Amino acid sequence: MTVGTACGKIILFGEHAVVYGRPALAVPLSQLRARAFVESRAEQGIVIHARDLKRDILVNDSTVDDALATITRLTLNKLGVTGNLEISVESDIPVASGLGSGAAISTAIVRALAAHFHQSLAASEISALVYETEKMYHGTPSGIDNSVIAYEQAIRFVRGQPITPFQIARPFTLSIANTGIASPTKITVGDVRRGWEQDKARYETIFDDIAEIVARAQDALARGENHLLGELMTRNQRALESLDVSSREIENLIDAGMRAGASGGKLSGGGRGGNVIFYVAEERAEEVRRAVGEAGAVSTLVTYVGK
Ligand code: PMV
Repeated sequence: MTVGTACGKIILFGEHAVVYGRPALAVPLSQLRARAFVESRAEQGIVIHARDLKRDILVNDSTVDDALATITRLTLNKLGVTGNLEISVESDIPVASGLGSGAAISTAIVRALAAHFHQSLAASEISALVYETEKMYHGTPSGIDNSVIAYEQAIRFVRGQPITPFQIARPFTLSIANTGIASPTKITVGDVRRGWEQDKARYETIFDDIAEIVARAQDALARGENHLLGELMTRNQRALESLDVSSREIENLIDAGMRAGASGGKLSGGGRGGNVIFYVAEERAEEVRRAVGEAGAVSTLVTYVGK
């Protein structure tokens, strides 16, 4: 049996605006992973066991709409092989929560299949394959999830441009809190699209504001001026609120985290649910974690960025 794994991801700054050509900064979340296991089977065909979703998928002509079946087909095509296979997938990354679970599961499948057939694929090739399934989750993905997950490094991402790593001069602590609300990216991205179509000037101004926040954050990270990050996160959150992708639950958690001593906080990913991130001094991280738990977060996590 061969195994492939892939990390989750966190968008630090710039989600949604990134769909409209603005830059975003994302980092891998290596402690949460998706895993895929591949082995040959005696029976004909390919079957995928999605343990967490409690679903078995037979890969055939009627599963064209299924992302896991699609990534399997695309990968075999890319590798130039066929086979009778049993694929199992499992993931620590909560689904529809802004942490890149869909892209991580697809990436794990690509890696496990390549290993099974003794081939290796470059990160750029893996990213391009996974991008095809990202399109199935929502129509206009920027490509940030598949990129940060395939490369597993901190990246500055601009749609349609080669990805570039960004510098983190001084590592820092992030506290992550899950609202427990599954919010498909397809819906928030679609709503932002409708808003933009109705009032392009207003939306473009908000996207420009987000682009400026991203530029400042990148600069602060490169210079080790981490004390600026909290304020920038809070400013990014205000912009996301004006795009109408925040929610009462997100704002409750942010309030609780800020009261407990976080320097700034924002939603991360598609919004309306999913995860909230806080920039927090290491010695306050536990306190923030406890406070957001009491305020209703279903799970919390502390991670170190840049270490
Ligand atoms: O919710 P996630 O983890 O899929 O992140 C989506 C990020 C968006 O900017 C909202 C969409 C995109 O394609 O970049």
